[in-house]
Amino acid sequence: MTRINIAIDGYAGCGKSTLAKDLAKALNYIFVDSGAMYRGITLFLLEKAVDISNGEAVAAALSERPELTFAKGNNHLFLSGREVEGLIRGDQAVANKVSDVAALPAVRDYLKVQQEAFVAQKGVVMEGRDIGTVIMPAAELKLFITASIEERVKRRSNDLFERGKSVDDEAIRSNLQERDRKDATRAEAPLRKAEDAVAFDSTHFDRPGQLSAALAMARPLIDPEALLPFIQ
Ligand code: DC
Repeated sequence: MTRINIAIDGYAGCGKSTLAKDLAKALNYIFVDSGAMYRGITLFLLEKAVDISNGEAVAAALSERPELTFAKGNNHLFLSGREVEGLIRGDQAVANKVSDVAALPAVRDYLKVQQEAFVAQKGVVMEGRDIGTVIMPAAELKLFITASIEERVKRRSNDLFERGKSVDDEAIRSNLQERDRKDATRAEAPLRKAEDAVAFDSTHFDRPGQLSAALAMARPLIDPEALLPFIQ
């Protein structure tokens, strides 16, 4: 059995986190939600009222080295020791600013070092926008997830509802589309499918179906002998 790394990229609200979390649990691997790290830095800059159009101000704030860690078990994000999971998911100001913050080279460089430290461990499922292209270009399995905009709005709306927030579907739709546009067109590490990534449309898959499909791709890479009965 080999420990492999799995990179999952795709548009906002396609269910990348759910799939990555389920895969990591099924394989007993580490799950890394890189979008949570970008949200955490966005919250950090918003709380400090840093002008994100001012590169020097952003670099000065990052020189304080805000620490981003994930709790074992529930994976909640901690920002310099404080749990911020509710704030990074439920605060619309974070959702509206995160793509602008993620376009800043100083922020990407800061987080890349931390993300690469996970990669070295092997047995990592990391999801985001540039995981297959920049952070884990050597990952053994790369998935690029898509889903229809209607399905993505529905999933995000349910997720917010479960967090006790009710956000108008139109606002969710425009936030998702605007973030996709910014993430895919920025100069630094834009969202795109790695050449060797498998495109996976999750629109008509439920959660267990999505996990089974991904496991069917991962297992032969982890245990090549499992394929022998089929190819002998
Ligand atoms: O996955 P998410 O929606 O929580 O990500 C929030 C934002 O962070 C997303 O709009 C783009 C940015 N992001 C990024 O630029 N690179 C990543 N690897 C992950 C997220």
